Amino acid sequence: MDENRQPVILDCDPGIDDAVALLLAARAPELKLVAVTAVAGNVGLDKTSLNARRVLTLAGVAVPVFAGASGPMFGEQVTADEVHGADGLLGIPAPEPAFPLGEGTAWDVIWQKAQEYGKELVIVATGPLTNLGIALVKYPELPSHIKRIVLMGGATDFGNTTPAAEYNIYADPEAADIVFRSGIPLVMCGLDVTHKAYFTQDEIDQLEALGTPQAVFAARTMGCGVEWHQRFLVPGAPMHDPCAMMYALEPELFEGISCWIGVECQGKYTRGKTVTDAYSDAKMSSGSNATLVTQADRETFVAHLTERLAAYGMP
Ligand code: BDR
Ligand code: CA
Repeated sequence: MDENRQPVILDCDPGIDDAVALLLAARAPELKLVAVTAVAGNVGLDKTSLNARRVLTLAGVAVPVFAGASGPMFGEQVTADEVHGADGLLGIPAPEPAFPLGEGTAWDVIWQKAQEYGKELVIVATGPLTNLGIALVKYPELPSHIKRIVLMGGATDFGNTTPAAEYNIYADPEAADIVFRSGIPLVMCGLDVTHKAYFTQDEIDQLEALGTPQAVFAARTMGCGVEWHQRFLVPGAPMHDPCAMMYALEPELFEGISCWIGVECQGKYTRGKTVTDAYSDAKMSSGSNATLVTQADRETFVAHLTERLAAYGMP
C-alpha cells in the first residue's frame, strides 16, 4: 500500500485555509503525508507549529511536525492575523496537540526526506516560501531530489496584500525568487485559480451538516471567508491552500499554462508580484519554469473536497 502512495511534505503556516489543506492531506488514501513543516506567516512560528499539530490531532493522525523559519529571509515580517485571528485559527475550537513538535528543522527534514524518497517527493507549500528558500541555499543539490513543488501563492493580475502582490509571495519575495529559479518543476496555484475554486455559503452549510468534528471545523473556517472575499467579488470563500493540495491529489480538476514565472523583489509598487509571460507576446528566452494554474472545475472540486472531509466520519 505504502509503495503506491505519493509521498508529500506539506510546508504551511496554519492559518485557517492551511488547516483545511491539512485535513485534506491527512487521510487522503492516495497520499502519504511524510512530514509537515511549519513556517512563520499568517501568525508567528510558535502558533503555526502548534496549529499544525492541533489540526493533525483533529484529523486523528500523528504526522511529525517540524518548525522552520521564524521570519522571512529578508525584509520585514508581514503577518495576516487580521484574516486568521490572533491564534491563527480564528479562535475556532481545535484539540490541543496529542504529540510534541518533531526534533529537527524544516529545511533539514526536507533534505532528508527528499533523499529518502529518491526524487518521488512532492512538496505542497501553502505559506511563505522561507523554509524552501533556506533549504535550497543550504542544500544546492536539492532540486535534483524533488519531483515537484505545488504552491499556493502569487497572481498574474491583482494582489490581496498589496495591489500587486499575493500574501505568500509578498511575505518573503527573496525566498520565492529562489524557489522559482530553482529548476524544480513548479505548479503555481495563485489567486488566478483560487478565486475560482470557492465554496458558496450553501455549500459550506452542507459541509457543516455532515456533523463530524472535522467537517464542522472546516466549515467554520470557510464561513469566515465568505464576507471577507466579497471585496474581491468572489461569491464565496476561496479555497486558497486546499486548492494546492487538491492539485497534488487530483490534477485533472484543473487547467494550466506552461510558462515562465518570476518574482519581483524590487519595485516601488510591485515587490512580491509574480510576473509571467503566459499572456504576453514577449516570451522569456529562458523558457518555461512553471505551470500556471488558471482554471478549476469548481463543482467537482467542491464535491470531492466535501466527500474527502465526509470520509472522516467513516470507521
Ligand atoms: C494565502 O495567504 C494566507 O493568508 C493564506 O493562508 C493563503 O496561503 C492566500 O493569499
Ligand atoms: Ca497559508
